[in-house]
Amino acid sequence: MCGITGYIGYRDAYPIVINGLKRLEYRGYDSAGLMLFNNNQIALTKTKGKVLDLEGIVDQSPSGKEGKIGIGHTRWATHGVPNDVNSHPHFSQSGELVIVHNGIIENYDTLKKELTSRGYTFKSDTDTEVLINLIEEVKKQEGCKLGKAVQLALTQVIGAYAIAVFDKSKPNEIIVAKLGSPIAIGIGEGLKEFFVASDASPFIEYTKDAIYLEDEELAIIKLGKAVGVRKIYDDSIVDANIQELQLSLEQIEKGGYDHFMLKEIYEQPKAITDTYRGRMLADEGIIKMAGIDDNLGKFMRADRIIVVACGTSWHAALVGEYLFEDLSRIPVEVEYASEFRYRNPIITTNDVVIAISQSGETADTLAAIKLAKSKGAFVFGICNVVGSSIARETHAGAYTHAGPEIGVASTKAFTTQITILSLIALKLAQSKGTLSNSAFHMYLQKMQLIPKKVEKLLRIDDTVKHIASVYKEASNCLYLGRGFNFPVALEGALKLKEISYIHAEGYPAAEMKHGPIALIDENMPVFVIATNKGHYEKVVSNIQEIKSRNGKIIAIVTEGDTTVKEIADHVIEIPETEEALTPLLTTIPLQLLSYHIAVMLEKNVDQPRNLAKSVTVE
Ligand code: AGP
Repeated sequence: MCGITGYIGYRDAYPIVINGLKRLEYRGYDSAGLMLFNNNQIALTKTKGKVLDLEGIVDQSPSGKEGKIGIGHTRWATHGVPNDVNSHPHFSQSGELVIVHNGIIENYDTLKKELTSRGYTFKSDTDTEVLINLIEEVKKQEGCKLGKAVQLALTQVIGAYAIAVFDKSKPNEIIVAKLGSPIAIGIGEGLKEFFVASDASPFIEYTKDAIYLEDEELAIIKLGKAVGVRKIYDDSIVDANIQELQLSLEQIEKGGYDHFMLKEIYEQPKAITDTYRGRMLADEGIIKMAGIDDNLGKFMRADRIIVVACGTSWHAALVGEYLFEDLSRIPVEVEYASEFRYRNPIITTNDVVIAISQSGETADTLAAIKLAKSKGAFVFGICNVVGSSIARETHAGAYTHAGPEIGVASTKAFTTQITILSLIALKLAQSKGTLSNSAFHMYLQKMQLIPKKVEKLLRIDDTVKHIASVYKEASNCLYLGRGFNFPVALEGALKLKEISYIHAEGYPAAEMKHGPIALIDENMPVFVIATNKGHYEKVVSNIQEIKSRNGKIIAIVTEGDTTVKEIADHVIEIPETEEALTPLLTTIPLQLLSYHIAVMLEKNVDQPRNLAKSVTVE
């Protein structure tokens, strides 16, 4: 997720663009850049680092601040590590066209090869530079204006984009287009100025009149003219809906949600989609992940896979253990990185180590990686931050494409980590033949349905809110699950602990009789995951044991469940899917539950006491 912004009008563009980028930094902050046009010259400045670093560089060349038209970008890298060259904006080869882009071009590799064969060269590793040169090539071949060239070029693109494009030869317009990533157009009084941005936060103080482009729409923004919006694929004219914005600046940054955590919970359908996008072709029955494909032999020959992580990432690692052992039949050990690094573990060159970290900066996980590497193990990283320390330290890896996770409590990181682990387990199962072709295809089809099922689940928020209101005063809670959902029980307990400060423990449901059942009484809410294919009958008897001791049961069940409904005090229904994929669904109500309880208890949801988003020290 990146932030794009732009301005064209009668004011100096620089202050509007640079301040707009500051407002958009929550969307991505590993590098930033801007372009201004003045006296027939393009001044383009970009750098790895924060918007403040960019500002410092521009301040050193005051001439670089002139101009009434400009576009800017703050980056959350997906292709190409964060560095100056990969930062946006990007020039086309001729230097005539400039682009900023938020999204992922899936078929950029194919397009890049075609453009290379036509004599194009590339300075960066980004998919965005491919896109601006595709636009340039189309413009050249068709002899058309920029708007038409952008439209035709986008019909060749597979992926997601929100772009702003500028043509030096036509400096009185900006072209924007959208598919899968947001774009808002601010309309100034008398059409004397226009703003473009990923959300309205950069221009809300200048105008409250805005157009939000819909998917597959392109807009030509020209001074003095109404914004012309067209459909990319059929060129039909769109009667653009001009809205009067009601949101405050703070609400805009949080996408209209009260907290970043809630926004990130609701971003999960898109985050999961973006994570498997370009890696899983369900209809063709293909999983392609460079980090795995290039090292498949190491995984196939591995005596075992050791997964090291902390916190929520450790819970994802535990789901990974069930996935790898059940699907790929590879022995797995899951280790707390903080323990692994000090317990003098036995590691051999036949081990594959997977390190999972949202931030890519967790000190314990980084130390565990270095230890594993020193013993000759191959180390694969799963991170959410491109170019982070862990991403750079591991031999290979795969990025979750969750976008920045601002809330301290990890939510979309967890589900996107599980998505990556599922893809790896399925890829290895296919390669080892431990999964039939039909079963492999079935899993891909089921994975492709998960985002919609998460969306459906998010609509039960009111039910979860009611349950939260009933149990928000509890002093202790238990979370129970079996199999794939035992780690989800642990994760649900962690969510509640870290943002509501209520003590909670996760347990394998069968462990109750080995001690925890002594805790049960009418004051003990027990959250039980009882999906219909997850040792269901056993979980039902665990529920009955708890009920017979006056425990309160809140059960997460598969849609249509009738048995548990008869016994539990509350049920939350999740859509049906393969048991191995249920963690992607069962975790959603538990995230919402902890969120609502914390809000009702008036806790600082996004920045809970004593916690940091990234634990970069021991
Ligand atoms: C999760 O909600 C917590 N914020 C914390 O446990 C976190 O998962 C842990 O610190 C690991 O962070 P990482 O994924 O960035 O390595």
